[in-house]
Amino acid sequence: MSVLRDQIASELIAARERTLALLEPIPDPLLIAQHSPLMSPLVWDLAHIGHYEELWLLREIGAGDPTDPRFDDIYDAFRHPRAERPTLDILGPSEARDFVADVRKRALDVLAVSSLDPDDPLLADGFVYGMVVRHEHQHDETMLATVQLAEGYAHPDAGEGRAAAGADPGVLSPTVLVDGGPFEMGTSSDPWAYDNERPAHVVELPAFRIDTTPVTNEAYVEFVDAGGYDDESHWSDAGWAWRTEAGLVHPQFWIRSDGGWTRRRFGRVEPLPAREPVQHVCWYEADAYARWRGARLPTESEWEKAAHGATGDGGLFRPGRRFGPDEVGAHPAGASSWGAFDLIGGVWEWTASDFAAYPGFRSFPYREYSEVFFEPGATEYKVLRGGSWAAHPSTCSVTFRNWDLPIRRQIFAGFRCATDV
Ligand code: AVJ
Ligand code: FE
Repeated sequence: MSVLRDQIASELIAARERTLALLEPIPDPLLIAQHSPLMSPLVWDLAHIGHYEELWLLREIGAGDPTDPRFDDIYDAFRHPRAERPTLDILGPSEARDFVADVRKRALDVLAVSSLDPDDPLLADGFVYGMVVRHEHQHDETMLATVQLAEGYAHPDAGEGRAAAGADPGVLSPTVLVDGGPFEMGTSSDPWAYDNERPAHVVELPAFRIDTTPVTNEAYVEFVDAGGYDDESHWSDAGWAWRTEAGLVHPQFWIRSDGGWTRRRFGRVEPLPAREPVQHVCWYEADAYARWRGARLPTESEWEKAAHGATGDGGLFRPGRRFGPDEVGAHPAGASSWGAFDLIGGVWEWTASDFAAYPGFRSFPYREYSEVFFEPGATEYKVLRGGSWAAHPSTCSVTFRNWDLPIRRQIFAGFRCATDV
C-alpha cells in the first residue's frame, strides 16, 4: 500500500514539475492574455488544474472546505466557454501559483494518511489520484497548443534539439495488412483507464490495410500542390462548407514561400520538415486528403487493432529534444505487432469515428469527462487515437481515446489512411 502511495506522490510531483517548467519562462502578460478565442488564458488552465485537484482530492475524498466558493463557477469548464474566460475574475499568475501549491500541499497530506480503501472505487488502486495526475498532463498539452498559438512568442525550450531521424522511405513498405477477425477493444483491467475506454469488448473486423506511418509533410504537400484544397470532389459536404467558410488553403502554421514551404513552430519560422508527420490539420482536411489518395481514414476500431502492442513516448522536456514530433519511422522498437510505426508519441491521429460509448459503458466518476460528449444530438466529436509528442505517457496508450470537433486544428494532430482489401 505504501508503495502505491509513494508512486502516486511522485507522479503528482512530476506532473507539477512539468506544468511549472512549461510556464516558468513565459512572461506574466502572456500568461494572462488570451492568444486565441479557442483557448483559455494560460493562468486559467493553471488555476483550473488546482481547482480540479481541490474538488477531487480535498473535497470529494478529503472532506475539506472550498478555498473560495467562487472558484466552482470561474474554473468550471462547462459554465464558461473558453472565449469568455478572460472576462472572469480569475487569479493572476502569482496568485494561481500560490493556489495550486497550497492545494497540492494539502492533497499530499491527505494522501499520506489515506487508506486507499480497495472497496471504494474512487480510491482502489489510487484511481482518483491517477485521474488528477492525468488531468494535469492533459492541460499541459492544451497549454502547449495555446503557446503555439501565441504569435511572436518563442518558448525558450521549444527550439532546442532536433527531431530524431526517421527510417529511409525506400525501406518502409507504405502500408501494412491487418488480417480480418476478432480483437479485444478497450480495457477492463487498466486501473487508471478512463470510463470511455471501458469495458473491454470483442470487435470483429474484416481485413484492411493501414499506412505504416502517419502522412508526412512531403506527402501532404503533394495534395496541396495538386490543388486538393480547390477540388470539391475530394471533400465531404460539411468539409467543403467549412473549407470555404474558414478559407482553408493549407495546414495551420504553414507559410508558402519562394520555392517551397516554411512553418511557424513555437514562434520560429523554419523550413517545413519533409519527413515529419503533418500536424495542425482538421478532420475535414484529413478526410479530403485520404479521398484524394483513394483511401479513407481508419475507424477507431481499425486503428486500435492495428496498434496492438505499440509503445511510444513523445519525450517532451527530455534533454536534446525539441517541441515537435520526430520523423516518421524513427522509433521502430515501438512498432505494433502488425508492423505499423509511430502510433504513440508522434501526433494524435484523426479517425473516421464519432465519439460514442462502448457497449456496457458506465459513467465514472463524473459524466462531464466523457458522457456529455456522447449524447445523441450533441455536436459530432471525432475520435483521435495514439498520442502526440506533447502528450504524457499516462495520457496515451493503445486504448486511450481523445476527441475533438472536426474543425479543430490547433491540437497536435495528423492522421494516417486505410483501405479495404
Ligand atoms: C480529453 C482532451 C478532450 O481537454 O476537453 C481536460 C481533457 N477533460 N479537462 C479536454 C479534459 C477535462 C479533454 N480531452
Ligand atoms: Fe480540465
